[in-house]
Amino acid sequence: MSISFDKSTKTFYLDGKNVTYAFFINSRGFAEHLYYGKKIHHDFYLYTRATGTTSVLASAPGDAGYKGLFSYDSMSPELSFFGTGDYKECAVHAGYKEGDRLTELLFDGYEILAEKPKISGMPSLDGGETLVVHLYDKVKDFGADLYYTVYDDCDVIARRVVYTNHAQSEVKLLRAYSFAMGLAGNKYDAISLFGGWAKERTPERVALHHGVFSIDSKQASSSAKLNPFMAIVGKETTETQGDAYGFSLVYSSSYILKAEVATSGETVVLGGINDFDFTWTLSEGESFETPEIVIAYSEDGIGGMSRAFHDAFREHLIDKKRVKSPRPLLINNWEATYFNFNYEKLAAIVDAVEGTGIDTFVLDDGWFGKRDDDSSGLGDWYVNENKLSGGIDRIINYVNSKGMKFGLWFEPEMINEDSDLYRAHPDYAIGAPDRPRCYSRHQYVLDLTRSDVCDYIVNSVNTMLKNHNIEYVKWDYNRNVTEFFSFGRAPERQGEFAHRYALGLYDICERIVKGNPDVFFEGCSGGGARFDPAILYYFPQIWTSDDSDAEERTRIQYGTSLVYPLSAMSCHVSAVPNHQVGRNTPLKTRGDIAHLGATGYELDTTKFTDDDKKAVASQILEYKKMENLVLEGDLYRIDNPFDSNYFAFAIVSKDKSEAHLTCYRTLCICNAETHRVKMQGLDPNKQYYIPEKQMILHGSTLMNVGMPINFPKGDYMTVTYHFEEK
Ligand code: DGJ
Repeated sequence: MSISFDKSTKTFYLDGKNVTYAFFINSRGFAEHLYYGKKIHHDFYLYTRATGTTSVLASAPGDAGYKGLFSYDSMSPELSFFGTGDYKECAVHAGYKEGDRLTELLFDGYEILAEKPKISGMPSLDGGETLVVHLYDKVKDFGADLYYTVYDDCDVIARRVVYTNHAQSEVKLLRAYSFAMGLAGNKYDAISLFGGWAKERTPERVALHHGVFSIDSKQASSSAKLNPFMAIVGKETTETQGDAYGFSLVYSSSYILKAEVATSGETVVLGGINDFDFTWTLSEGESFETPEIVIAYSEDGIGGMSRAFHDAFREHLIDKKRVKSPRPLLINNWEATYFNFNYEKLAAIVDAVEGTGIDTFVLDDGWFGKRDDDSSGLGDWYVNENKLSGGIDRIINYVNSKGMKFGLWFEPEMINEDSDLYRAHPDYAIGAPDRPRCYSRHQYVLDLTRSDVCDYIVNSVNTMLKNHNIEYVKWDYNRNVTEFFSFGRAPERQGEFAHRYALGLYDICERIVKGNPDVFFEGCSGGGARFDPAILYYFPQIWTSDDSDAEERTRIQYGTSLVYPLSAMSCHVSAVPNHQVGRNTPLKTRGDIAHLGATGYELDTTKFTDDDKKAVASQILEYKKMENLVLEGDLYRIDNPFDSNYFAFAIVSKDKSEAHLTCYRTLCICNAETHRVKMQGLDPNKQYYIPEKQMILHGSTLMNVGMPINFPKGDYMTVTYHFEEK
């Protein structure tokens, strides 16, 4: 059994594939964290607690006998609360009818469920056996149920909290996080992923210090600024060795993650929905469900942590029907035409890929409403016949006649002022009374906190999908919310806006994405600005970045892979000079880098020379050979492009019978040193045939002696190698 309770010490033990998580209920009834890390035997780990001088601390409420020795401030919490002696960051902060904001949540029983319950209205990992620990504040009749799921096939714990008001009066949640957890020790670094448009998910490592380190979003979107992910790693932890804890929130709206180094010598990590601009009113009997946090652990460094997330998301989050199946190999017209296309141009793009292996044509922005540039049309999800003579079916039929599938772009959450939808329903756009709205890309965000608006979106998108043979959808989201207000909600409920936006988003995703199981959906957000696990639950792949330059992509894909599997990243081969940075890189390099994900092409194929076309066809054959590794393999990041002239990713099959290595060098340096790569993740005892070198070598040789990489002359060059078990 993976979840057990030792009655004598009141300790819960959760044993996963290679991890143990333990906490106990102390004599006061407080759920006190004991351990998370490598799988170990079940002892009572309480002896590790710091017992420093605590006489100045507040004792637990009413406990004169403890003289401060029993203080919440020095305990390691599973869930921390405010006003009862703990001055560290709390996980829950609630206001009650008397006006006080004090909470004390103590043990009130537990259950072990055979199946992991779903969160209502929010995505989460699936799973089996789940521990629910009931905590209760008997003064306020306020409860918190802590959910824990552990997995036997990946090294993560999934946690969340359900808060319930059992009192006869309202409770106002001012903060309602998903978890708190104490890590032993205070010598850690935090790694987060910052960014912006076209430079998403850049890793940044900083030293934790006494006080609070935090990352957040206040954008009602998980955002490109800071991904909803934080790693806490030991000072000595590297890519391949040392303790690495990863925290990834399954959430797409404003969030916060914090790590506080406490005087007690521990580091408390906590977070969930951002409490900035948040309140939530719970009437009698109502509950509030928080989003799930996935907490990975590896003793094999940052790389091990990433593989734990990749396994968890592939096995338990992403659509099972899609996750390991070959992805559409597409040509997208965006960078070929932008808004300037007609039937003939699109048909010519399709003609030009005949025989290459590309199997899907995706028509991007500009096919609907009155949409000749980005200033109009959003919201009007019916075809622009002035542009596409013969209607959408003419181009769909043409694509289908070539044996290809047809895909279509939507931006369902948006509206332009210049649209039929806005003329009919200006209040559908998010806005606040007496204030002009902020524009962004000439558009507004639809108020997804309203069910009538969600119904409009679902009906209009589903009508298109029902009436036309659309087998792929690219779902874009190009701007963030500004006026955090809904014309459909009472003044005292306006603080619920950002979370209600997420609930609205998940509702329309349920009804459009899950409602059309035969359509393949790709997520997108002005590049990769909403790349989070909740989006991955609906969309097996997400457009990684509008920056498709191969050199820049080595860094963007490296950073993204800290949390997300390769198969989650859409990566396209685009034109040179690159439209974002003006750089020229070889077609081979663009292919090799784009093939480290769910690959596709996005360039004007009518400009292909015969040689280009042949090169693309052979690239696609190569991709097909490695596709199963991209979909299912273990990723080893070998060379880091942030601190070297090189980038190298190795992908190794789970049974270690095959592997693929992609090496990239930014600048060619004359008379340079030999660049040697030591493989990782192979079976040391297996022998591997390397066709590119015509050699057979043991895994142990490849991993310890390594291989010199012979880059061809020139900047931005790649070399790839295959490893096949002999
Ligand atoms: C932003 C996306 O990232 C692009 O790929 C493209 O779809 C444009 N939006 C279209 O407006």
